[in-house]
Amino acid sequence: MIRPKPEIRVLAGPEELQWAAAEEFLRQATEAVREKGFFTVALSGGSTPRGLYSLLATEEKVPFRDRLAWDKIHFFWGDERHVPPEHPDSNYFMALESMLSKVAVPPENVHRIKAENPDAGKVAEEYEETLREFFGLAPEELPRFDLILLGMGPDGHTASLFPGSEVLQEPKRLVMATWVEKFHAYRITLTPPVLNNAACIIFLVSGKEKAETVRAVLQSDPLSKRYPARLICPTQGRLVWLVDRSAASLLRLG
Ligand code: 6PG
Repeated sequence: MIRPKPEIRVLAGPEELQWAAAEEFLRQATEAVREKGFFTVALSGGSTPRGLYSLLATEEKVPFRDRLAWDKIHFFWGDERHVPPEHPDSNYFMALESMLSKVAVPPENVHRIKAENPDAGKVAEEYEETLREFFGLAPEELPRFDLILLGMGPDGHTASLFPGSEVLQEPKRLVMATWVEKFHAYRITLTPPVLNNAACIIFLVSGKEKAETVRAVLQSDPLSKRYPARLICPTQGRLVWLVDRSAASLLRLG
């Protein structure tokens, strides 16, 4: 199976990166709503995506907020911390504060990971059921998100796929709870098969502390499994890397 080569776009800085992501989000949402009446997106946590969410919801002078059919967009999450929805570490809380509380998204369109349940395994099972119901999945079928937004840490983690985690080899489950030793906490995450079944994945990566990892993920030995972000490549879809100049500084381009 020939997987698509990543589309790599280098932007001047974080603001330009967020603007490019917002334009891509608007284009894809508009096209999906025109073609099938709704748009499904899985949001990422992290500081880089947060700037995008704020931009999409900003009403002054920018062309996004009033051009998005918010009532036709269904919001999911690529991963979540094992905390209640009002906790400052919650990815849902971050998206609510930066975007969802400022725009007219019907509550039934917000499909958060209900991480308040103290049993992280149950949280994952419940979210898997949410996906099965919404996408009307047959037993072995994978959900196909129109868009999945991802960030990446300096260690190459993405969503909550951390180096050495058993989730990296998960062949079947859609959602898993994974213990992350360095945080001494559970995370709940979509698995690689679900991420790689998306119609489009956009990585948003900014900052020089990620330059070596960006180079390693995009331009080093294809067999190296050290960085989970290397596992992410849609089997039938687009892979877009939006990186700022600092994060792209070690890439050989052109
Ligand atoms: C999370 C994200 C995580 C994030 C990376 C990069 O829950 O925090 O899913 O994978 O995208 O840690 O975060 P920054 O964009 O803040 O560097």
